[in-house]
Amino acid sequence: MYAIEMKDYGEVNVLVATQLAEIPTIKPKQILVKQHATAIDPYDVKFRKGLMGTERALPLIPGSSVAGEIVAIGSEVTEFSIGERVAASPHLKSYAEFVPVGRSTVAKIPDNVSYTQAAALALGAQTGYQAINDDLKLQVGESILVQGGAGSVGLTALQTAVLRGATDIYTTAVNNGVDFLKKFNTNWHVIDNHTERLTDIIPKDVDAILDTIGGTAIEEGLKVLKPNGRLVSLAGSHEDNRVTSIYLKSNGEQLGELLQLVSEDKLEVVIADVKSFNVENLKKFQAMKHVVGKLVLTFD
Ligand SMILES: NC(=O)c1ccc[n+]([C@@H]2O[C@H](COP(=O)([O-])OP(=O)(O)OC[C@H]3O[C@@H](n4cnc5c(N)ncnc54)[C@H](OP(=O)(O)O)[C@@H]3O)[C@@H](O)[C@H]2O)c1
Repeated sequence: MYAIEMKDYGEVNVLVATQLAEIPTIKPKQILVKQHATAIDPYDVKFRKGLMGTERALPLIPGSSVAGEIVAIGSEVTEFSIGERVAASPHLKSYAEFVPVGRSTVAKIPDNVSYTQAAALALGAQTGYQAINDDLKLQVGESILVQGGAGSVGLTALQTAVLRGATDIYTTAVNNGVDFLKKFNTNWHVIDNHTERLTDIIPKDVDAILDTIGGTAIEEGLKVLKPNGRLVSLAGSHEDNRVTSIYLKSNGEQLGELLQLVSEDKLEVVIADVKSFNVENLKKFQAMKHVVGKLVLTFD
């Protein structure tokens, strides 16, 4: 099996191509997927650098997005069959031709959604969708600020907020993200975090905030949050009792809903570039900065 492993924690040169003699075996509740596409997520880059801890034994196969076809199913799996097109966001192991995934994290891909789109949605978009629906539980008529709206998480969160009937949608961005968001939806109030202040642009405190940036973003957000508002952060914590730190709980059912929304043209996934899956392209993509849209590697 062709795979890309990390031989150490560090810069992109720790990524190496390898041929493994065996394909992974699966447990009773797992599915084996033959990969067609995988995406680059900030998590993969942070993990490689050792920012998520360095305790895992190396070498290992990193990567966290799967889109491919089922080639084997565990003895307790009844809801999927061999040959079906599926997506998932496992923790590690996706930079390989074959990936084992837990059945509860797997979603079927609708016929008119490509493997590239599905891989691009698996982690970041699923996180944004879950944050708005489950963590913020955004209600019709509520106002929201999404910090970092041009990212994978933010862009899906903004679109999900529209679908849930939010009014007054504010978002922050930097660099190319500012113009991108202004064009993407002209109803959104886009704030350039390099040149503008939230308190100058947002006239009335908002009901909900999703922070994908961390650092000072929570402190800044709290200045425009209603006294009974709620702020959820994917990138930091705060002692204010309106703030909750959250993380993705991989959920196949939810990923399936998201794929269905894309299939029905109700939600858009933006792809910046697609290249073949190999170590040179993975290194190139992991080193890129300030990209608007997802970077995807395909196995075809
Ligand atoms: N805890 C979890 O379960 C979980 C799950 C998914 C994601 N995350 C985290 O959530 C964060 C966002 O993920 P993502 O996939 O959306 O990342 P992404 O696609 O790289 O997007 C991040 C966006 O934020 C922009 N940005 C950077 N600094 C900013 C600032 N000060 N103000 C406004 N925008 C700013 C970036 O612009 P430039 O590129 O131009 O700098 C980029 O458009 C990452 O840190 C990721 O690791 C956590």
